[in-house]
Amino acid sequence: MKRKVTKAVFPVAGLGTRFLPATKSIPKEIMTLVDRPLIQYAIDEARAAGITDFIFVTSRGKSALEDYFDHAPELEGTLRRAGKTELLEMVKATNMDSGAIAYVRQNRPLGLGHAVWCARRLIGNEPFAVILTDDVIAGETPCLKQMVDAYAELGGGNMVAAMEVPPSKAPSYGMLDIKEDMGSLVAVSGMVEKPSAEDAPSNLAVIGRYILTPRVLQNLNRLKQGAGGEIQLTDAIAEEVERGEPVWGFRFRGQRFDCGSKAGFLQATVAFGLARDDLRDELARYLYEVVALQKAAQ
Ligand code: UTP
Repeated sequence: MKRKVTKAVFPVAGLGTRFLPATKSIPKEIMTLVDRPLIQYAIDEARAAGITDFIFVTSRGKSALEDYFDHAPELEGTLRRAGKTELLEMVKATNMDSGAIAYVRQNRPLGLGHAVWCARRLIGNEPFAVILTDDVIAGETPCLKQMVDAYAELGGGNMVAAMEVPPSKAPSYGMLDIKEDMGSLVAVSGMVEKPSAEDAPSNLAVIGRYILTPRVLQNLNRLKQGAGGEIQLTDAIAEEVERGEPVWGFRFRGQRFDCGSKAGFLQATVAFGLARDDLRDELARYLYEVVALQKAAQ
C-alpha cells in the first residue's frame, strides 16, 4: 500500500556538548550557517518533501527555537514602516502557520531513540520522517524529497539515508550490513551502532534522515539503553530487520555536512558561503589568500 509521508520529527533535545560553551545558552539548532539557523535548512528540506506536520522534540533551554518560528509583530512592523520589503518577506517566510508545529518535551537526554519515542502520540499510525538538523545536505534535489519519492515506489518498510565513509569513521556512525546492493537502494540485513573499524559490516553509514514505520515506535517502547548508555534508534530499526521487515539504505545524491561537529560546521559555512552570489567573490579571495599564506609559511 502506498502511503504519503506527511509528518516529520525533529529531535532537537540533545545537549550539544561539542559546541560548549556556546550551547550553554544557544540551542545548537539555532546556530547559523551563513544567515539561517540550522533548523531552517531542515524545515525547508521537509517542506520540499511534502511534509505538512512538523513535530519538534525539545528540552529545557530551547525556547529560542520555538520563538524563531513565531510571528515577530514588532520586528515585522519596524521593517514595514522602514520600507524594507525584502527583509520583511524573508522574516515572514520563517513564520510557521498556527498548528503546523507541535512541540513535545524530552525530559532527559536519553538518546535519539528515546527522543523519537517521545513523539509517538503525535505520530500515530502512519509512516513518518525523522530529520536530524545536524546533518545538512546540499544537493539539487533535497535529500528527504529523494527519499520520499523512492519510498513511494517501494510502498512500505523503513528507509535510512546512507553514505560511504572510510573504515576509521565507523565508530561515529550507525553502520549497515548489506544484503543486496542495487545502487541507490540497498537492502539491509543488519545495523550496528558505532562499531569499531574492524567490526563494521560495510562502509555504508546511516545519515540523519529516516522514513520509519510506527512499529519502530513499538520497538522503542521495549528498548533498554544501548551503546553509550543511550536508547538507540538504530537498535529499534535493526529489530525490524530481524523480524524480516524490509529496511532500505538510500544512497542520496548530495553533499552532507556534519554540523554537529566543529570542523563540519566550518566546512559547511565555507561551502554555503561560496554558493551565495553575494558572498562568493569576497570569501573566495579571502580563502585563497589564507591558503597562499599558509603554503608560503611551510
Ligand atoms: P547528538 O548525538 O549529536 O547529540 O544527537 P547532541 O547532544 O545533539 O550533541 P553532542 O554530541 O553532545 O555535541 C543527534 C541528534 O539527536 C538529538 C540531538 O538534538 C541531535 O539532533 N537528540 C540526541 C535528542 O533529541 N535527544 C537525545 O537524548 C539525544
